[in-house]
Amino acid sequence: MPDTTGLTARPLHPVFAAEIHGADCARPTPELRAGVEAMMDRYAVCVLPGQDIDAHQQVAFARIFGALENPPRARGSRGDASQKFPPEIFPITNLTEAGEIQKEDDAARQYRLANALWHTDSTFRQTGSTYSMLHAQVIPPAGADTQFIDTRAAYDALPEAMKKRIEGLRAEHSIWESRGKLGGYTPTPEELVARPPARHPLVKVNPNTGRKSLLIAAHVSHIVGWPRDEGRALIDELMEFAQKPEWIYSHVWRVGDMVIWDNRCTMHRATDFEDSKYTRDLRRVTVREYAAA
Ligand SMILES: [Fe+2]
Repeated sequence: MPDTTGLTARPLHPVFAAEIHGADCARPTPELRAGVEAMMDRYAVCVLPGQDIDAHQQVAFARIFGALENPPRARGSRGDASQKFPPEIFPITNLTEAGEIQKEDDAARQYRLANALWHTDSTFRQTGSTYSMLHAQVIPPAGADTQFIDTRAAYDALPEAMKKRIEGLRAEHSIWESRGKLGGYTPTPEELVARPPARHPLVKVNPNTGRKSLLIAAHVSHIVGWPRDEGRALIDELMEFAQKPEWIYSHVWRVGDMVIWDNRCTMHRATDFEDSKYTRDLRRVTVREYAAA
């Protein structure tokens, strides 16, 4: 049955994630915003298939949900060079500016490789994000799925003693933490200064539903105020706990898919594909949350 905004949901997984029908991203309205937000509060990952929109329309659609991030000006991110897109677009691609497949030692490729780690977009920023919205332009014939974990379900399943232990803790997040783990991307001194770490609560609360979730993953370096090793061990324990197969949804992309995920209550990662042979070209837009303290 359609809800009051005309949207229908087809669950894609027993715990979270749904395909949403009846949404036209080319016609952003307050009603569409309300409908998508209600679906996001329930499913955390929503797939809007068959969206035939350009980059400007994607930005206009995302703006109904709040202020947008601009991509960082890192060598690897291509955020500083793509003149063909509005400034809010993050090109998620293995193509160079010239439209050729990136070479193995391309800085942008090295930067991108860390996306294979479980992560949450933008937690390394002082201002976190609510939704990421990724629109598929070109998809390789095999691989390159995006996997998601519902960290609300993971939080709910934690032993009570662990819930008490982590209540009120804050973690430090840095883009250079994840880039140091995989990909071998080396930031310049300017980049290190421009993108300092950020601190966020380890347990997030959805203001609309009151549901709690774990805010962890690859950008986290340590727990604020704890010895580094002890904090690292706690994060590793939580990460291992959260990776149960029953909380993972793998999205197999189709051209035109608009996949929206809530960064406050999910982690995601990219899976492998033959990136020296096939093109994978998507565009992301990210909605800002409030400023972190
Ligand atoms: Fe991501």
